[in-house]
Amino acid sequence: MSRAEKTVFIKSYGCQMNVYDSSRMADILERDGYRAVDTPDGADLIILNTCHIREKAAEKVYSELGRLRSIKQSGKTTIAVAGCVAQAEGEEIIARAPVVDMVFGPQSYHRLPDFLATVETGAKVVDTEFPAEDKFDHMPAPARTRTEARGRTAFVTVQEGCDKFCTFCVVPYTRGAEVSRPVEKVIHEARRLVAMGVREITLLGQNVNAYHGVGPDGRDWSLARLLEALAEIDGLDRLRYTTSHPRDMDDALIAAHRDIDILMPYLHLPVQSGSDRILKAMNRQHTRADYFAIIDKLRAAKPDLALSSDFIVGFPGETDADFEDTLDLVSAVGFAQAYSFKYSPRPGTPAAEADDQIDEAVKAERLARLQALLREQQATFAKSLEGRTLSVLYEKSGRKPGQVIGRSPYLQPVVVNGDESLFGRIESVRITTAGPNSLLADRPMASAASTASLEVPA
Ligand code: SAH
Ligand code: SF4
Ligand code: F3S
Repeated sequence: MSRAEKTVFIKSYGCQMNVYDSSRMADILERDGYRAVDTPDGADLIILNTCHIREKAAEKVYSELGRLRSIKQSGKTTIAVAGCVAQAEGEEIIARAPVVDMVFGPQSYHRLPDFLATVETGAKVVDTEFPAEDKFDHMPAPARTRTEARGRTAFVTVQEGCDKFCTFCVVPYTRGAEVSRPVEKVIHEARRLVAMGVREITLLGQNVNAYHGVGPDGRDWSLARLLEALAEIDGLDRLRYTTSHPRDMDDALIAAHRDIDILMPYLHLPVQSGSDRILKAMNRQHTRADYFAIIDKLRAAKPDLALSSDFIVGFPGETDADFEDTLDLVSAVGFAQAYSFKYSPRPGTPAAEADDQIDEAVKAERLARLQALLREQQATFAKSLEGRTLSVLYEKSGRKPGQVIGRSPYLQPVVVNGDESLFGRIESVRITTAGPNSLLADRPMASAASTASLEVPA
């Protein structure tokens, strides 16, 4: 690099797609002489990769920009707002926070070097286009340094955008129409990652199971077919995908859970509500019975499959009876894990215009009840694993010396006694204790002997 080294600090909000995009932005900036750093102080460039999904998420950006004002005053830092708030609010961001030099949406990241050149001339940049080209085609491949720093797992975005238009959701507006990356590009990226030591890949998309990328045969491939092809890669031991929509949970994908050994028995399948009336008002395009039918098929195909979901409480017009239907659905399915939110009206979405908005206090009370039930289910699920043998991919050091943390097939952190030499290994371990946020496990006898002198987890 002929230029003097510069530094960039990137902060990611929101979903895993932003995490992936942030690391790809770091890759493209590295080519321009930027080194990624962990703190904003003194950085030449600060990028906030933002999320617009709920009001709270969007507002976080402005409080962060407030804090960054002092950094900007004390040095010559370029401040950029990327991601979904950038896409949704565009130049309004600069009007509200004049410290910002650049605003650009999720589909423009490959243009970052041009944006930086423009800012150097003293101009501001606002780019919220949806360019025809695929940003990933114009960005360097994932860098070894960042891949290795993440450990042995990696994300690969295979699909972006959404055509579903749920009436509460900003994603179709902030990410644009549904687009799938071609099969060969995905496989090429996966092979590269595996060559760098990655053993687990999670395929990402806002609607990942609507994937329909063009295959080497010129036809559109489904997600099931893509997973089959990825499962052939030597050295790749675990596959996951997220987030799925119930509508796109087709029979081939359900069968993939039965047939592909390395596909982990854990599925995030958001349902949002258990009330048919609310599902309809949300434009989810499926009923509660449809959801149950999918779960039945999945469990028939893969009996040890664990499920996770997303829920919204207090959607406009939600009655007590509707909410009871949600609790009832949760009780009937039994989730290993779940995320639940109070409905947040988002500008420009149809549900925000509805005149039967629910009182904040009612939302809060419903959320508390739902979360209590979900927490109980999560604990029950974890307890059911005690005494069982699970495979664990070791990733990093634990909080206490002599401990290593890995992930179960169900994404739970699993703590064992061991050292760094375990990183990247997959081992079957016996779960001894299920805590609220992690599992404790014993390693198999042969290797446990060599670590017998190490501290036993509390
Ligand atoms: N594509 C995914 C969800 C993406 S957004 C899907 O279709 O399931 C992640 C989660 O945020 C959603 O599942 C929903 O539960 C929540 N969410 C989205 N918009 C919201 C809003 N306006 N208020 C509250 N929660 C919302
Ligand atoms: Fe949003 Fe619905 Fe699309 Fe998911 S499917 S991203 S909730 S519009
Ligand atoms: Fe948020 Fe955009 Fe992801 S709104 S959830 S960062 S797609």
